[in-house]
Amino acid sequence: MFSTITREFYTSQLQQLNATKQRRQCTTYEPLDSTHVRLEGRTYLMMASNNYLGLTHHPSVIASAQEAITAYGTGSGGARLTSGTYPLLPQLETQLACFKESERALVFNTGYMANVGTISGLLTKGDYILSDALNHASIIDGCRLSGATIKVYEHNNCEHLESLLKALPTTGKRLIVTDGVFSMDGDIAPLPDLITLAKRYEALLMVDDAHATGVIGQGRGTAHYFNCSQDVDIQLGTLSKALGSEGGFVCANELLIDTLINRSRSFIFSTALIPAAIGAAQQSLTLLANDTSLYTQLQHNIDYMTQALLRQGIAVTHKTTTTGLVHDYQPTPIFPIIVGSAEKALQLSQQLFEKGIILTAIRPPTVPQGASRLRLTVTAAHQESDLQYVADTLGQLI
Ligand SMILES: Cc1ncc(COP(=O)(O)O)c(C=O)c1O
Repeated sequence: MFSTITREFYTSQLQQLNATKQRRQCTTYEPLDSTHVRLEGRTYLMMASNNYLGLTHHPSVIASAQEAITAYGTGSGGARLTSGTYPLLPQLETQLACFKESERALVFNTGYMANVGTISGLLTKGDYILSDALNHASIIDGCRLSGATIKVYEHNNCEHLESLLKALPTTGKRLIVTDGVFSMDGDIAPLPDLITLAKRYEALLMVDDAHATGVIGQGRGTAHYFNCSQDVDIQLGTLSKALGSEGGFVCANELLIDTLINRSRSFIFSTALIPAAIGAAQQSLTLLANDTSLYTQLQHNIDYMTQALLRQGIAVTHKTTTTGLVHDYQPTPIFPIIVGSAEKALQLSQQLFEKGIILTAIRPPTVPQGASRLRLTVTAAHQESDLQYVADTLGQLI
């Protein structure tokens, strides 16, 4: 029963979020193309999406989604293991395995479900998970659901990770798990060092390439970027960001994929992805594998934005120092502009909105207290004039 006490609980919880500027709301925008949206008759420039290659509106990707619907209908009708495996799914999995230089792939309905289902499907009570402090929420949830003991290592700190590995008992399986490109910071995991530790301490290594697929390593992700695909046990990704579709995937050897088909609850107990999503992802992958121009354009735009922000004196962590000199340059499209308080981030986001730019304020609990930010993302579809306008406007406001 929805009692007064229950109502008061939820009301007070929302009021508390209001008071700390952490309350969230969904805003409905009408997408016009991959970089513009409309709201109440006004057009805005989208600088907050993960549509890194602009593929959501690519004519051939749209056509492929439409063909998939025409051939196989609007829904899959059931879970993969009951009624849902129509031919496009294994075709896409073959394509993904080849793209990621892996033995085999398995498609999930979202990247979130891929993380939750993979980690909880492979690890259990008595096992150990070593997880980077800035890993995505879906990794954290997968770790919790597995029942394994979770050890969190300081962000990208391999010395700390090794000290935790050294202290583990000899029983149980071990998994080191990291974002490839970190979702809120845009920096890259030190994969070669993680591989060394995984080998030394006999741990499985899993990389979440949600923000690396289509983005680094010729679009093939973090392992390809470091030229070490054969040494990463599990490469996870999503179809929903650079690939312009919806869904998640895992690439690994036959044994691990077969285990997931039998043990991963988010895979087993959910209706298979719809044909339109698979058709779109197939064509996005085809484009990415055969045509380097989108990837090159994204890299150009990342570089352009880095320089434009630098000229405005805006320091972007991992791309600039506070003196404004580029050091440790990392070619990712995520620019975290850290402003501190949630209030300040919201205020800037609103000012940018008034200037026709959508740049969402990212606040706790997504990022730590005091590290609220604007998470600026650049795509291949942005024009240089768009990027310049955003950098100039930020320069005036910050
Ligand atoms: C690092 C990371 N992993 C996984 C996901 C989840 O992917 P999806 O949006 O496809 O569920 C996200 C999405 O925000 C992410 O940033």
